Amino acid sequence: MIWAISGIVGAPMHKLIIANWKAHKLHNQVEPWLAAVGIPPADLDVVVAAPFTLLSQFSGLPAERMALGAQDVSPFPLGAYTGEVAADQLADLGVQYCLVGHSERRQYFGETNESVVAKSRLLVESGIKPVVCVYQENLTSQLTALAAIGIKDVAVVYEPPDAIGTGRNAALDEVQAARQAAQSLSTGTFLYGGSVTELNIKEYLMVCDGALVGGASLDGGQFAKLLQAASVN
Ligand code: PGA
Repeated sequence: MIWAISGIVGAPMHKLIIANWKAHKLHNQVEPWLAAVGIPPADLDVVVAAPFTLLSQFSGLPAERMALGAQDVSPFPLGAYTGEVAADQLADLGVQYCLVGHSERRQYFGETNESVVAKSRLLVESGIKPVVCVYQENLTSQLTALAAIGIKDVAVVYEPPDAIGTGRNAALDEVQAARQAAQSLSTGTFLYGGSVTELNIKEYLMVCDGALVGGASLDGGQFAKLLQAASVN
C-alpha cells in the first residue's frame, strides 16, 4: 500500500479555515473563546490569526486544537525597525501562517504588492506560510510579483473588499473565475474570504480549499457551528 505524507493517497485534503480576529479581543477573552470552540473536527485544519498582543497566549496550544497565525509582519528582518514585528519573532512564538496584503492593510496602512513580496520572502525564510489576500484588481499583479521571486507555494485568499463584513458574500462563479486566474501563478491552496458564515461556508468549500473568516469567528460558539458546517463528517 502506498501512503502519502499526510494520509492515504487520494484521500481528500483537509480544508483550511482561518479565523481572522483583526484588532478584536483582550487577554481575558482568549480562554473563554477556546472553551466555546472546543476541539475542531478532525478533517479540518484550523488557524487562529490573532493580534500580536495575544499570540503568546496561544503558544502552548496542543497541535490538534489549532495552528497559530499572525495578521501582518514586518517587511524587514530582525533589527533596528522600531514598532515592527519580524518574521523570526513570529516563528519564535510558533506562528505557522501569516496574512499579508489584507485589503484593510492596503486601504489604511499603505500595503502594496511590493511590501507583500518583501514580507512573503521573509516569512518563507522563517518557515511561515504566507496567506496572500487579493481581490479582482490585484490578483494577477500580486501573484505575478511573488512568482517572479519564486514564491508560488502560498495560500491565496480571494477576498473582494465589498464582501468584507457586509453580508454581500461573492458569487460562486466569481470565486471560481478567480481560482482559475490564480492557478497558473500559484501552486498552493485557494481560499475565499468575505462574509463567510455557518450558512454559506459549505458552498465555498465546494470550490475552494478553505475560508478566511472574520466576523463569524469572533464568538466561539458561532465559530464552532461554522466548523461543524465545514466538516464533511
Ligand atoms: P468578514 O471578514 O468575514 O467579517 O467579512 C473577513 C476578512 O476580512 O478577513
